[in-house]
Amino acid sequence: MESNILLDLKNVNKVFGNNHVLKNINLKIERGKFITFLGPSGCGKTTLLRSIAGFYTIDDGEVWIDGNLVNELPPYKRGTPMVFQEYALFPHMTVFDNIAYGLDIKKRPEAEVQERVMAVMAQVKLSGLEERYPHEMSGGQQQRVAMARALVMNSPIILLDEPLSNLDAKLREEVRVELRTIQQELGLTVIYVTHDQLEALSMSDQIVVFNKGAIDQYGTPHEIYYKPRTQYVADFIGTTNFIEAVVVQSKEGTATVSYGFGGDNVTITTDEKLTEGEEVLLSVRPESLRLNHPDISGFNIIGVVQSSMFLGEKERYFLADQWGKEWIVDAYDIGQKTFDGQVRMSAAIDKIHIIKKVSP
Ligand SMILES: Nc1ncnc2c1ncn2[C@@H]1O[C@H](COP(=O)(O)OP(=O)(O)OP(=O)(O)O)[C@@H](O)[C@H]1O
Ligand SMILES: [Mg+2]
Repeated sequence: MESNILLDLKNVNKVFGNNHVLKNINLKIERGKFITFLGPSGCGKTTLLRSIAGFYTIDDGEVWIDGNLVNELPPYKRGTPMVFQEYALFPHMTVFDNIAYGLDIKKRPEAEVQERVMAVMAQVKLSGLEERYPHEMSGGQQQRVAMARALVMNSPIILLDEPLSNLDAKLREEVRVELRTIQQELGLTVIYVTHDQLEALSMSDQIVVFNKGAIDQYGTPHEIYYKPRTQYVADFIGTTNFIEAVVVQSKEGTATVSYGFGGDNVTITTDEKLTEGEEVLLSVRPESLRLNHPDISGFNIIGVVQSSMFLGEKERYFLADQWGKEWIVDAYDIGQKTFDGQVRMSAAIDKIHIIKKVSP
């Protein structure tokens, strides 16, 4: 029976000299999903991608692709074409020849090469540009040639290492949408590396957040954004407010925590296993807080507006509470209305999220 798991990484470790770059990576990736590896520069994203593709030999662990242990296989036998961070096309070759390259290496018959290259070019909307050279194309078109070069191999999994980093913001957004559309239409399994959190949130079925060579969280964009498991993830994805709290009571699925010097309590749903007396962090997003809102309560803090910034669709307020802690609150679509002086910040209970202090 065909398993739903296409890529299975078990305890993968990679060391360069005395730099332990990948630390016990365990990850299962399902067929047909768009997976993003997200993390800051140097956290090991490219290293893991290259280890999957077979360009690096791992020091410990197992890489399984489609039910086969591939540790000993060279890249060309793994069926994992990779589009590199600097997606180098061959400048002296036409678009057609660039795309046909992998099939030519495999010595496929000419008729088959012709047919597959033309089909893939249609998929990525490059038909008619067969005879162009890379320098005669825009950045976005070149990027699609790089994609086509991977697609033409009919591989079960495609690895993309920041393929859009050379494009300007607008084009980047366009190609992003195209890429996601192609992936969904063809049911491809794609691993996409980026350090751009918006890109990750908008394109992925699942996001893997890396923290210094280890996985901090693996989940859907919604889970990563609304239920970050660590302070690192909450901080890395978007902006958030943290507040120190202590667990007063813990039950299956909920916890009552006390925050602030006033000893205010809130009862919050949580998946974390917590013990009474444990110190935790509460995380609440700037857009989940309201200023002087009559109907929202549950979580309340009094603050004083320090400054604000108009950002078009929202006004971002910087406030200080009575303990001197800074808060960020986003107010949307409020027109000319502004807040100053002392205000009440409040949030619905279900917008408050508990993060364990000791990493899970
Ligand atoms: N071939 C190599 N030899 C030695 N050290 C390496 C090699 N490749 C990567 N490293 C080191 O491994 C660590 C992870 O690098 P990697 O390129 O995987 O990061 P990354 O997450 O892809 O970063 P970026 O977002 O900047 O591309 C870094 O400390 C880097 O210096
Ligand atoms: Mg990289």
